Amino acid sequence: MSNIAVIGTGYVGLSSGACFAHLGHVVTCVDVVQLKIDNLNKGILPIVETGLEELVAEGVAAGKLIFTTDVVSAVKNADVVFLCVPTPEGADGSADLSYIQTAARTLSPLLRSGAIVVNKSTVPVGSTKVVERELKRPDVSVVSNPEFLREGSAIQDFLHPDRVVVGSDNQEAAIAVGALYEKVGAPVVVTDPASAETIKYAANAFLATKISYINAVAAICEGVGADINDVVLGLGYDKRIGHEFLRPGPGWGGSCFPKDTKAMVKIAQDAGYDFGLLKGVITVNDQQYGRIVDKIRTAAGGTLKGKKIASWGLTFKALTDDLRDSPAVEIITRLLADGASVSVFDPTVTVAPKGLDAITVCSSPLEACAGADVIAVLTEWDDFRWVSPVEAAGAVSVKQIVDARNLLDRSEWRRAGFEYQGIGR
Ligand code: UDX
Repeated sequence: MSNIAVIGTGYVGLSSGACFAHLGHVVTCVDVVQLKIDNLNKGILPIVETGLEELVAEGVAAGKLIFTTDVVSAVKNADVVFLCVPTPEGADGSADLSYIQTAARTLSPLLRSGAIVVNKSTVPVGSTKVVERELKRPDVSVVSNPEFLREGSAIQDFLHPDRVVVGSDNQEAAIAVGALYEKVGAPVVVTDPASAETIKYAANAFLATKISYINAVAAICEGVGADINDVVLGLGYDKRIGHEFLRPGPGWGGSCFPKDTKAMVKIAQDAGYDFGLLKGVITVNDQQYGRIVDKIRTAAGGTLKGKKIASWGLTFKALTDDLRDSPAVEIITRLLADGASVSVFDPTVTVAPKGLDAITVCSSPLEACAGADVIAVLTEWDDFRWVSPVEAAGAVSVKQIVDARNLLDRSEWRRAGFEYQGIGR
């Protein structure tokens, strides 16, 4: 059992802190926002994450999970301090390390000798050295321990990881960080910092590549009359390919893939390599938003001007409330720019987000359908699976549906009289 401090209580920090407490460690989570800490101490979470509320309640009740704004008390006895602060995209596409650097400078005088500082946030290759330079504490080790948490399944991914990756020039420190995960029983890859940081970016870039690849194959399927669902089934049985991350859709979004793919291109460029393949993956993704808008325009009779579109979904994927870089937001922005009006239902959205004030936020999928010329399924919430096509047919003004997630039963919607357009079929 170790004494852990976590700096930052966002998606990564809060999930990691609660899981470390669940694994038996004593964890103090620090944030600079007093309201966030006050709410956490009342069991009010700033994010939607399956299973997190229960883990936070369990940790607080057991006295193993503490929330505070007082970084001094949090780190003074800490064996390990995890940096879980934002690393947003910088102007030139590289990751902005200012939060990490500020955190390291703040921590430097507070850490006990022999403590370990861990980069958990996604940071460019070489960032361990950046933290060492800011710390100026040769008696403190810096370790890279990248996260592989998906929003909506972060608790599952933390407690049942495929692997733990730890990178440090001090192997003893690397092993000590790996030991924190002992109870999860996953393979621990112990390597140098540059390799650990590269694993993280290479993993996200590869996952984004898989998705762009299948979206491209789906476009080809539409041209040759193949069914992408069967193509993915046939591809995935090949163990070298697998079925995961081959779901066609409106493109990948969220707070990671868009940022991390651009950062990887910049990391490569700074390393003297032109990562054309990954640039192509990003281009395919940008084009995918346009392909969905084109499908909706076609379904609306060739023009969006004056048409009413019902958007089912606003978040970047189901099981999260995160709108950051959501493909649905980008697509709706383009629909509005082309003169359409858009009504939206998303189970996690009650008010129009900044920049999308023109949309009408509805409280049910059917309410969003009222008078619509086209229904567009943009996020794969289960709520949409259970909507009756017959009831939807009674609500819309034109029976047209673009299912950008291949979520619905095509034959059922066609039987209810809808023109159905999916992706790649
Ligand atoms: C991702 C990585 O999966 C995770 O390992 C890393 O730590 C953080 O970034 P996340 O961005 O939360 O996680 O979500 P993910 O489930 O990877 O989905 C990313 C985007 O790809 C979403 O827009 C999703 O809708 C899309 N996607 C995913 C597809 O379009 N098809 C798929 O098959 C899978």
